[in-house]
Amino acid sequence: MRERSPAPRAPLVFHPSAPRSAPTTPALVHALLLGTAAGGGFPQWNCWCPTCRAARADPVVARPRTQSSLAVSPDGERWFLCNASPDVRAQLDHIPRRPATPDGMRHVPFDGILLTDAELDHSLGIALLREGRTLHLWATSAVARTLTDDSRILPVTRAFATVHLAELPLHRATELRDASGARTGLEVEAFAVPGDAPRFASAERPGHTVGLVFHDRDTGSRCAYVPGCGALDDALLERLSLADLLLFDGTFWTDDELIRLGIGDRGASAMGHLPISGPRGSLALLAPLPCRRKVYTHINNTNPILLESSPERAVVEGAGFAVGMDGMRFVV
Ligand code: MLT
Ligand code: MN
Ligand code: ZN
Repeated sequence: MRERSPAPRAPLVFHPSAPRSAPTTPALVHALLLGTAAGGGFPQWNCWCPTCRAARADPVVARPRTQSSLAVSPDGERWFLCNASPDVRAQLDHIPRRPATPDGMRHVPFDGILLTDAELDHSLGIALLREGRTLHLWATSAVARTLTDDSRILPVTRAFATVHLAELPLHRATELRDASGARTGLEVEAFAVPGDAPRFASAERPGHTVGLVFHDRDTGSRCAYVPGCGALDDALLERLSLADLLLFDGTFWTDDELIRLGIGDRGASAMGHLPISGPRGSLALLAPLPCRRKVYTHINNTNPILLESSPERAVVEGAGFAVGMDGMRFVV
């Protein structure tokens, strides 16, 4: 486990902010962090915790972030959203846009939306994209049920737009097709992770929370996106060890973060988020993995790693992790 043969790999390129035009790199996995904060964003509108205060007083001390979302692409031109956050409208500015076709006035700058769960921070954006008229959605059957029966985001969106829903099977790779139906060469595989079903879900169904692995068939490049994960066992660590780029749940620094601040009464793990710190925290468990790039995302506004000069930030970076920032772009 955690060993990988030293096969020659395509270069991993990191752009601190998204270039406006599509790069000329051949088919690889492009990953663009659209939003790196957890639900509520950073600073959160009603929050005066130390980190939110710091970000409001001086954005250089702690840079603001929008709510959790990623875009992936096989070529830098066709993009798939992973989750659709309530900030999706502003986030789409990070995606290089093709102009509308000569016969059309409108253009949707992405080919589809994949979901890791049905939480509000990851799915409210679907309804906000209703002007798109036709949307292509990939979700596990558990997530689709919650969006249909519980939050009703899917029927509400369908009152405005045609939503083509494809099932994301668990533990089986599927090739993504672009909006025209053409093959992309980019495969996605969803795998169930320990987590907490949304509090409005009527049942806890298998596959309510998943991680996604994107795999380019030609180059073998892999990107794992796991914005919510309550625990890491050996099987999960082994799966993640194969990723060149790992984008992982950085919600909380400690398990009792919200309790100590008097903001909540549940621990991080009980909320479906393994904390970063501690001997069984995600940093200790993921640091030995050979992934070429590891990045925390879905960072809650209370997490001290958001402070650019905090000791916690130094610990994370010292262990080889980057703290995700909106607009960060990777090519693997
Ligand atoms: C989560 O990540 O656990 C959820 O998005 C929580 C929430 O904001 O309701
Ligand atoms: Mn969330
Ligand atoms: Zn806060």
